[in-house]
Amino acid sequence: MRAIEIIGTGSCVPHHTITNDELAQSIDTSDAWIYPRTGIHAREFCTARQSTVTMAVEAARKAVADAGIPVTGIRAVLVATMSPDFSTPSTACFVSEALKLREDTAALDLNAACSGFIYALETARGILSGIQEMEQGDAPLYALVIGAEQLSRLLKLEDRTTSVLFGDGAGAVIVKLTEAGRSDYAITLGSRGSRDILAPGLYTGAIDKSVDHMVMDGKAVFVFAVEIIPRLIERVLRLSGSDLAQIDYVLCHQANARIIRHVVRKLQVPEAKFPMNMERLGNTSAASIPILLDEMHGNGTLRGGEKLLLAGFGGGLTFGGMQLRFRPEDRT
Ligand code: COA
Repeated sequence: MRAIEIIGTGSCVPHHTITNDELAQSIDTSDAWIYPRTGIHAREFCTARQSTVTMAVEAARKAVADAGIPVTGIRAVLVATMSPDFSTPSTACFVSEALKLREDTAALDLNAACSGFIYALETARGILSGIQEMEQGDAPLYALVIGAEQLSRLLKLEDRTTSVLFGDGAGAVIVKLTEAGRSDYAITLGSRGSRDILAPGLYTGAIDKSVDHMVMDGKAVFVFAVEIIPRLIERVLRLSGSDLAQIDYVLCHQANARIIRHVVRKLQVPEAKFPMNMERLGNTSAASIPILLDEMHGNGTLRGGEKLLLAGFGGGLTFGGMQLRFRPEDRT
């Protein structure tokens, strides 16, 4: 079957760090409350000169350089975001302009909240597969898939129930279309309509209520997350005919360390298989998994050839699980 594999990574975080102690100077909270419940000590917020677009472009440039491919090989650019600078042009079109991508490159943003990066990867596989079928060419086909969020623009600092949880950042990967066996690629996507997480907007339907900043039923979201992540993992493994021992790393959406530790205990696996970085970055929604991927590649944890399982969940509610390979050609 047609699959995708990751061949390059990049990321951009704003480097404007806000610690829990700094937040506690302006709102009624503390590191002693936040850290044990979330695993978060600090997050990065954009400065006035940074935004979803600037971070997406920087992460994209790094991913292209890391992959070592010419930009002319890129035929699709997808940005998963729920905090774009503009409704239109899409963030993807800004990236396309900045990187001077060729004109027959598909460009779109998509919003599946914190599951968005996994949705975007699978959408990229679909677009590249379509190009392959239409053009029947021999040239390798690549897509640039980005998760980019300036969540600080959706928060109201005084609302401590959400303002302490989220951060800004972008991560990007280059994926290549390949032929693979079932054990090398699997995907499951889903949704469950629910208003447990709402971001700013005006809704004039049944609830007749507008929301001016991110609001969330934290307890309901926690229960959802610890229920859905093990199911996503089990379903992906069933689809690929693998077991967890064959997976090198499970990269969960970095919402909350307590959620991930709950899953680790339930599945009875070593915590080292579930890397985490929310301690420094908070929850960066669609950007969290690609930022983590880039950090793991940058620090030598990922060397090439690894089998990865990605698990995302978030507002919508949406969820997605994926198994894919990281730079299989690097394996010696
Ligand atoms: N600092 C200090 N106190 C806070 C606070 C903060 N940042 N936020 C809430 N509180 C208070 C509440 O007002 C409440 O006070 P009360 O008992 O006087 O009413 C108390 O702390 C307990 O609040 P509660 O909401 O019951 O806390 P919790 O134990 O459920 O933890 C979360 C809250 C958000 C950390 C937890 O529910 C969670 O992790 N949910 C998942 C969130 C998530 O990951 N979302 C993203 C998904 S993509």
